[in-house]
Amino acid sequence: MSPGWNWDFEDEPRASRRAPAPAPAREAAGPPPPPSAPQPIDPRARFRRRRLGAAAGLVLLVVVLVLALGGSHHHGAVSSAGTRTPGPHAATLAPPGPDELEREDKGVDSVLGYTPFVKEGGTQGRDVALTFDDGPGPYTPQVLDVLEREHVPATFFVIGQEIHDFGSSTEREIRDGFTIGDHTENHPMMAQLSAHDQHEQLFEQAARIELLGGRKPKLFRPPYGSFNTTTFHLLHQMKMLMVLWSVDTDDYEQPGVETIVKRVIEGAKPGAIFLLHDAGGNREQTVAALPQIIHELRVRGFHLVSVPRLLAEDPPPHGLPLPTSLAGD
Ligand code: NI
Repeated sequence: MSPGWNWDFEDEPRASRRAPAPAPAREAAGPPPPPSAPQPIDPRARFRRRRLGAAAGLVLLVVVLVLALGGSHHHGAVSSAGTRTPGPHAATLAPPGPDELEREDKGVDSVLGYTPFVKEGGTQGRDVALTFDDGPGPYTPQVLDVLEREHVPATFFVIGQEIHDFGSSTEREIRDGFTIGDHTENHPMMAQLSAHDQHEQLFEQAARIELLGGRKPKLFRPPYGSFNTTTFHLLHQMKMLMVLWSVDTDDYEQPGVETIVKRVIEGAKPGAIFLLHDAGGNREQTVAALPQIIHELRVRGFHLVSVPRLLAEDPPPHGLPLPTSLAGD
């Protein structure tokens, strides 16, 4: 965990970091009732005893207060973990610092050293990654609103030509430190293109991201899962890693909010990479499912990270067989 990383508190709701609320007035328990033993006649003895009683009451009060404070703090943590409702002062996402970016880059490069593609991370931790394809689009701001409210890093595989109409969302993704990958310039089936045209598709999108002030994408996701050996050759030249997925929510088919959530949860395991879409059609269901997805993953102890972070923390094993195109082309 680098100190430059600012997303780690997603594990710990902000509410639980607040100072505990003042203890409720529990001191009504008061000092113990006077003993029923025969009363001494000496008034000084009675005075001493009253002071002793007051002291005992004070000790009891302190004990009650300590218990109440501890108890209220505990309850606060549990209830806020249950609801996960961010307070009005919830900060927006802070971008990863230079140390973290360097670490992520090294993670990706290290994985590229032994495989040209991934579909999930390793299984040693509890990291999982949400990925969003086909943006930017009209629903991208809503997706970003949820992610930022919940302090969830994510990876966006952006289509170059969509930046023309919805570039402000891509600028926001860059500014707020989301990871941006290459999803081609205009979403063709790569396996049906010449080497030259495939290169154009990869290069033009990457150039647009850099023109907007983003970092050159190191990750590529093939539209329709379509690729061939030429694609791998080009990606190798461009030092880019192909990122497939382990869980396809098919959210673009609008199967219903509950179905989208259910597909994520059923596929959730260490290293999972979830495929969702922030654009390419009506994404109301994806937007509505997102808070539930985040909540259900966290309840199960998963830690939501970007794809580069997933690969840096817990890389996939060596020796994975090269996949064939998923598009049947
Ligand atoms: Ni796509």
